[in-house]
Amino acid sequence: MTSGTGDPFGPGDACLLYDAKGRRYLIELIVGRNFHSHRGALAHDAIIGSPEGASFETTNGTFLTALRPRLSDFVLKMSRGATVLYPKDAAALVMWADIGPGMTVLEAGTGSGGLTMVLARAVGPTGRIVSVERREDHASLARSRIAGFFGAVPDWVDLRIGEVAEAAEEVAPDRIVLDLPDPWDMVPVAAAVLPGGGGFAAYVPNVPQVEAVRAAMDEAGCFIETSTFEVMMRDWSVTGRSVRPSHRMVGHTGFITVGRKILRGE
Ligand SMILES: C[S@@+](CC[C@H](N)C(=O)[O-])C[C@H]1O[C@@H](n2cnc3c(N)ncnc32)[C@H](O)[C@@H]1O
Repeated sequence: MTSGTGDPFGPGDACLLYDAKGRRYLIELIVGRNFHSHRGALAHDAIIGSPEGASFETTNGTFLTALRPRLSDFVLKMSRGATVLYPKDAAALVMWADIGPGMTVLEAGTGSGGLTMVLARAVGPTGRIVSVERREDHASLARSRIAGFFGAVPDWVDLRIGEVAEAAEEVAPDRIVLDLPDPWDMVPVAAAVLPGGGGFAAYVPNVPQVEAVRAAMDEAGCFIETSTFEVMMRDWSVTGRSVRPSHRMVGHTGFITVGRKILRGE
């Protein structure tokens, strides 16, 4: 599912409905179903076959505008089990872990699949994502969310249930990306399986976790360009002559640590 290409909505597509106050509702278009809100009802059938950006009158006489969600909208609005990596963090992680087309990425845990979708887009059909999740309920939810966004789980995304350490050698990744509580346990594994120049990235919410992962990287002795950072994104309110930062922002999500593998005596 790609937004903004001029393709009309089809059954099964994700659709974001905007009301006049800017409230947004994420729905899956299903033939014969109705969307209900305090602004009245709207038949999905009215949207199916229509282009993105069109507006539709509800039974209350108000209007809703329909667009396909951007990936950032979908990740933040989808129902989920595990906490997703925020789009601001996922975007920065892709850049600083240097993830691009054709690469093989080992990811864990899949969680709700939020980061998996971002990685899948970054590596594209010539790449490969192997995403490992230890909890069956999380893996199953992630599979349905990923299919909900892309239309089906992309061929190049391999969703597995298990322990990430056990998959590492066979996958032979170019990059390892971790959003799990104890990423330091994976540092010796990353040191063993990554190629020279390969990248390791870990996202953790707490300072002691940063200390532990950095200590493990130091101990491994084969990572350079190690860096830990956080991403603060402050939205601005722009209304007429009132132009100022928004009163509210997401104050803290987590810290991203990256490093590159070098070969020492190998
Ligand atoms: C915070 S969630 C990941 C969220 C995900 N990045 C997203 O954007 O949706 C962490 C997940 O890691 C899984 N997990 C923890 N340790 C793991 C391990 N050693 N191998 C595989 N999965 C693991 C947990 O079950 C949980 O679902």
